[in-house]
Amino acid sequence: MKRVLFGLAIGAAAAAIAGCGMMGDQRSGETASAAAPAGGGAKAAAPLVAKSGTNTGGRVTFEQQSGGTLVTVSVTGLAPGSVHGFHVHEKGDCSAPDAMSAGGHFNPTAKPHGQMAMGDHHAGDMNNLTADANGNVRVQFVMKDVTVAPGASSVIGRAVVVHKDPDDYRTQPTGNSGGRIACGVVAAI
Ligand code: CU
Ligand code: ZN
Repeated sequence: MKRVLFGLAIGAAAAAIAGCGMMGDQRSGETASAAAPAGGGAKAAAPLVAKSGTNTGGRVTFEQQSGGTLVTVSVTGLAPGSVHGFHVHEKGDCSAPDAMSAGGHFNPTAKPHGQMAMGDHHAGDMNNLTADANGNVRVQFVMKDVTVAPGASSVIGRAVVVHKDPDDYRTQPTGNSGGRIACGVVAAI
C-alpha cells in the first residue's frame, strides 16, 4: 500500500511539474521503476487460519528481492516456548479442518525433504518456528528457492502451514512435524 501511495504521489508530482511546463520529458516515476531488480518488489501474503481445533493465527508475507524472497512471519496463539514445523505446501487449499487439503510440501524441483539452506530440501521447507514466552512468533528470513513473481517456483496459489510439532529435517517426506494447526493461502498483494 505504501508503495502504491508513493507511486501515486510521484505521478501527481510529475503531472504537476508537466502542467507548469517545466522539466521537459522527465518522468520521475518511470526512472524509479526501471531501477528495480527483475521480479523485485513482487509481494504476496497468507493470512493464517486456525486448524485442528487450535487458536493459532497470524500472517506470513513474501517479498521478492534481488537476493531471494524475504519472508516475514507473525504467528499468535502457540504454547510458550513451543517449536513448530513450518512449510510452504503445494496446494492453496486450507478448506479441510485439519488442513490436509493443502497437500504435501511445495517441491517443484523433486528434492527430498530437508533443512532450508542446508543441502537438498524442498523449495517450500522453512526452519522451525519457536514461540516466545507469550506464545507468539515474529521472525524474518530469506528463501532462496521460491519466487513471488510467476513461474514454477512461485509461492502464489500455494499454502503456508504451521505444524503441531518440530520438523526433524530428516524424516521423508514430512519432517515428522505432526498435525497442521494453522494454514493460509498465499495470494498476491
Ligand atoms: Cu508442512
Ligand atoms: Zn519438506
